[in-house]
Amino acid sequence: MKLLLRNARKVVTCSANGNLMKHGPEMNEVREIENADILVEDGIIEEIGKGIVDSDCEIVDVSDRLVIPGFIDPHTHLIFAGSREKEFEMRARGATYSEIAAGGGGILETVRSTREMPKSKLRNQAARRLEKMLRWGTTSIEIKTGYGLDFKNEVKMLETAAELKDESIQDLVVTFLGAHAFPPEFANDRPAYVKLITDEMIPYASKKKLADFCDVFCDSDFFSLEQAKTILSLAAADGMKLKMHADELSSNGAADLAVELGAVSVDHLENISNSEIDRLARSNSVGVVLPAVAAYLRTKPAPGREMIDRGCAIALATDFNPGTSMVDNMQTVMWLAVAMNSMSVEEALNAATINAAAAIGISDRTGSIEVGKKADMLIVNAPDYAYLPYHFTENRITNVVKDGKILEFS
Ligand code: NIG
Ligand code: FE
Repeated sequence: MKLLLRNARKVVTCSANGNLMKHGPEMNEVREIENADILVEDGIIEEIGKGIVDSDCEIVDVSDRLVIPGFIDPHTHLIFAGSREKEFEMRARGATYSEIAAGGGGILETVRSTREMPKSKLRNQAARRLEKMLRWGTTSIEIKTGYGLDFKNEVKMLETAAELKDESIQDLVVTFLGAHAFPPEFANDRPAYVKLITDEMIPYASKKKLADFCDVFCDSDFFSLEQAKTILSLAAADGMKLKMHADELSSNGAADLAVELGAVSVDHLENISNSEIDRLARSNSVGVVLPAVAAYLRTKPAPGREMIDRGCAIALATDFNPGTSMVDNMQTVMWLAVAMNSMSVEEALNAATINAAAAIGISDRTGSIEVGKKADMLIVNAPDYAYLPYHFTENRITNVVKDGKILEFS
C-alpha cells in the first residue's frame, strides 16, 4: 500500500542527520523542505522530494499544509484510577507534594483506587485517553506501572499495558515502576519491599517480556540512591533498559547515578546541579523535562535553557498522571517549555519528536521525517510550526498519519 503526500507547503523533518538525538545547539535546527512530496510504502517513508511521480498510490494534496513528525510522549503514568483535584487545591493553599505524600495522600491515594479497579475497566479508560492523545498528535507513548505496588497489582498494570500495546493505534513502550513509592504494607520494612521488587517483580516482568524499561522514583522520602542502584542494576542484568525519576523534589545525585548506570533517559531534573548537567551533556542519556509538573506543584521548572546551553539532549513529556500533571497534550507541553523553561520553539519541537523518541529508545525508526523511518506524521493547517505551541488550545492538526495510514476522525 502506497501513499503520496503531494506538495506540502513545508515539511519540517526534525532530522538528526543520521544521529539518534540532538544535543545542545543542534536542538535549535528543525530542517525544513519547501513544496515537497512524501512517498510512503508499507508504512515506511520511501522518498522525500519535489515532483515525485508514482501512478500506483493514494494521493493526498497537502499544498496549504505543513507536515511535521508525530509527537512522541516519553513519560506518562497513563493507567490510573481516580483523581486528585483536592491535592491540587491543597497545594494552592500552601501544602507541598511531600507533606501530602507523608499524610498518606499522593501516589498512595491513586494506589488505593487503582488496586480496586478491574483490569478491563483500567484498560478501557486508558484506551480512551490514548484516543484523545492521538487526535492531538501523539503517535508513540511510554506508559509506566507504579500504582499497584504489590505483585498482583503491578502485574495487573503490566498486563493492562500489554493489552493496550496490542490494541492501540499508537506505538507503546512499557516501563516497570514498582519502585514508585513504598506501599503501606511495607511502611515499616522498606528493605523487604525492595527485595519483593528485585526477587519477584522484575524477574516475572522480564520472563514474561512485559516491560521494556525499568524506572525508580529516587528522591527524598522515596527510594534512596542505594536502593535505586540495586533495583536498576538488577533490571539491566535482566535485559531491561533504564530510566529514572531524578532530582524532582531534591538534589540528591540521582541524575549522576542514572547517567553512570547508562540510563536511556533521566527525567524531571527540576533540582539538577550544574555538575550533573555537565555530565549529562557528555553522555548519551536524554534529559526529559516535564514542564506541566512545575505548574501543578507550584515549584521551579527544570533549567531547560541552561541544560541545552551546556550541551544536553533534552526531550519533553507530559508526565500525565493524576497527582502532578493532568496534561495529556504535547502541544500544551511545548507551550509550557517555551514559556516556563525558556526553550525556543525549534528546541521544543525537536524535544517533542526526535529527542523524545530517543528518550524511549525508538529514534532509529521514528521521531523524524526521514527516508527509512516509520511514516508517523501530522498534517497541520497553520502558516508556521510556531502556531502549535502559540495556539495550544486550538488543535491545528487536520490529519494524523500513523504507519502510513491517514486516520480520519469523526
Ligand atoms: O512523575 N514523581 C513521581 N511520580 C509522578 C507523580 C505521580 C503521582 O503523584 O501520582 C511524577 O511526578
Ligand atoms: Fe513521572
